[in-house]
Amino acid sequence: MILLAGGSGRLGTLIVRRLQARGLAVRVLTRDRKRTAHFDHSQVDVVVGDVRDGRTLSAAMVGVSTVVSAIHGFGDIGRVSPASVDRDGNRRLIDAAVAANAAVVLMSIVGASATHPMELFRMKHLAEEYLRGSGAPWTIVRATAFAEFWLDLLDQTARTSGRPVIFGRGANPINFVSVSDVAALVERAVVDPSTRGATFEIGGPENLSFNELAAGLQRASNRTATARHVPRAILRLLGAVLRPVQPNRARQMRAAITMDSIDLTFTATDLHRKFPELPVTSVADVLAHR
Ligand SMILES: NC(=O)c1ccc[n+]([C@@H]2O[C@H](COP(=O)([O-])OP(=O)(O)OC[C@H]3O[C@@H](n4cnc5c(N)ncnc54)[C@H](OP(=O)(O)O)[C@@H]3O)[C@@H](O)[C@H]2O)c1
Repeated sequence: MILLAGGSGRLGTLIVRRLQARGLAVRVLTRDRKRTAHFDHSQVDVVVGDVRDGRTLSAAMVGVSTVVSAIHGFGDIGRVSPASVDRDGNRRLIDAAVAANAAVVLMSIVGASATHPMELFRMKHLAEEYLRGSGAPWTIVRATAFAEFWLDLLDQTARTSGRPVIFGRGANPINFVSVSDVAALVERAVVDPSTRGATFEIGGPENLSFNELAAGLQRASNRTATARHVPRAILRLLGAVLRPVQPNRARQMRAAITMDSIDLTFTATDLHRKFPELPVTSVADVLAHR
């Protein structure tokens, strides 16, 4: 049995479908069963639990040989945070996997480090370190930004005015990877024991600014209007003002400034030499198949 924490999410759903297609038994851990309504429940086992409460994890672990962590506490509304989910939640999940003698495949982020300006990247780094020292057989998959997520977000902000909203100047080049390429790599990590003890980095074939991404979206959507920009000064203000009342939203505002300014480019490594069967999907391909 393979346990997918985050199996209800964008990446997790694709991983579940790939593992199922191989005939493997899959269980999804979710805080809310309704979030798994898109699965056929006669095919996918669902366990309700929360990585912030270790007591809810033991039932999920029964018969599990591999745990995939595709969770994050960055975007969600509520009391989640990178510290409570990406750091502490992953620690609980890893402890539970060790107790069950299960291997762990951890989703992380390209650039994760102890000194990164974004909390999410620092918390992912701590989860990676914890996993490497845990005694569980492990594989870490670091990905760049998911093209589908950012295109959906730009598209949502364009709904009423036809103009996507970009946070900041939007000129900083960023690597965008298709989530389906990431799912293919995670699937490989789950089924191939020779990937244990390795950290893989996956990115897309191009680095694009948000201005370029939004322009591509507009062309693909037959819209001619240009994007709107939220100035950095407003983001800075919102990041400070919202902090005590909506910490998640405030964190996102601060993250937007960081994404607008630091190096988030990625150059392909030898990943595809090692796994030549892995797909390489361009943003243009993602846009064409939306
Ligand atoms: N999005 C990106 O651009 C990007 C880039 C690089 C790496 N990643 C990583 O890839 C993974 C998947 O990202 P995604 O964008 O596909 O995620 P997503 O669609 O936003 O889904 C997040 C998942 O996390 C689960 N989750 C959150 N808090 C939880 C908690 N307290 N207990 C249990 N589950 C919890 C949610 O499950 P329920 O709501 O069902 O409980 C959901 O399935 C994450 O590890 C993320 O950090 C993402």
